Amino acid sequence: MAKPGVLAQYGKFLPVTDKTPLITLGEGDTPLVRSPRLEKEFGAGELYFKLEACNPTGSFKDRGMVMAVAKALENGFKAVACASTGNTSASATAYAAAAGIESIIVIPKGKIALGKLAQAIVYGAKIVMVDGNFDDALRMVRELCDKQPVALVNSVNPNRIEGQKTAAFEICDSLGGAPELLFLPVGNAGNITAYWKGFKEYRGRGIIAAAPKMMGFQAAGAAPIVLGHKVDKPETIATAIRIGNPASWKQAEAARDESGGVIDMVSDDEILEAYRIMAEKGGIFGEPASAASLAGLIKMKRRGTDFGGQKVVCVVTGSGLKDADTAIKGFSGQFIEVAAELAAMEKALGY
Ligand code: F0G
Repeated sequence: MAKPGVLAQYGKFLPVTDKTPLITLGEGDTPLVRSPRLEKEFGAGELYFKLEACNPTGSFKDRGMVMAVAKALENGFKAVACASTGNTSASATAYAAAAGIESIIVIPKGKIALGKLAQAIVYGAKIVMVDGNFDDALRMVRELCDKQPVALVNSVNPNRIEGQKTAAFEICDSLGGAPELLFLPVGNAGNITAYWKGFKEYRGRGIIAAAPKMMGFQAAGAAPIVLGHKVDKPETIATAIRIGNPASWKQAEAARDESGGVIDMVSDDEILEAYRIMAEKGGIFGEPASAASLAGLIKMKRRGTDFGGQKVVCVVTGSGLKDADTAIKGFSGQFIEVAAELAAMEKALGY
């Protein structure tokens, strides 16, 4: 049977009407994977990773995009547009392509991972590169959509948040209840807003007894919410979350405060350390921004937090394959070169 997708699966929780086309590329229903090795390493009761990289374009954005594009179609739009650090644009373009409408993406020049650019090219977006950062791109695309008959599909579009909240539903459905803690990266702050909305709705309907604490992590060079002011020149290796003025800033603070959670920051070194640990000891290859989830957990562990007896979920927001450059950079001298003979290989391997 074909995968239903989030609109068919969770339609009764979403703004789906009888006029909404139930489009899908097979998004949602992503694996929640328990990691015994990392659970032991960090002393968590149960440690899970929500593999959002398993969505059709390799990130969590597909959950919200399917809803936003479906509503754009319902409302007669022939084009969608977004600003992006790469994943939103890949997703918008894929859904627009499948629906037969145009997509315009506005991206910061030279600052998006190559795999994400490749996606936008192949899916057929009109690609605008801005000599500025994500915050500039978002401002421009908002102005464009105010003036032209183009649907804005950034997470300032409430339909994006609606679709993305289904990840919280899935976690609760898989675990038979909510975890105690949910770790996730924070960039434009749409995702933390969406998860919190999802958990609150499940709690409101009595499906879960209590909601988790929302543990959001920004990159230290792009941490406006932590610092309490805009960052004019955000910088981080985690280009997906290189954002200095998040659109859902207030909602992210509300998610933190209402859930009793935290929004803190992790350095690029901490992100890269977690990126490697997640891959080498968990078998999970997330993109650098995704590693901010585990980096946050590791930071808290080092500062003395005891996760014993707790159910903890780290969200892996995007695929490591999108940014192969970061994986390969700094990796040298580790290849074993041999002649094309078994004996040479055995010798080199120390047998
Ligand atoms: N992780 C990844 C892989 C992302 O691409 C993003 C955001 C985030 C985390 C942060 O989520 O913005 O909802 O707080 N990427 C956006 C984009 C900005 O354009 O693809 P957020």
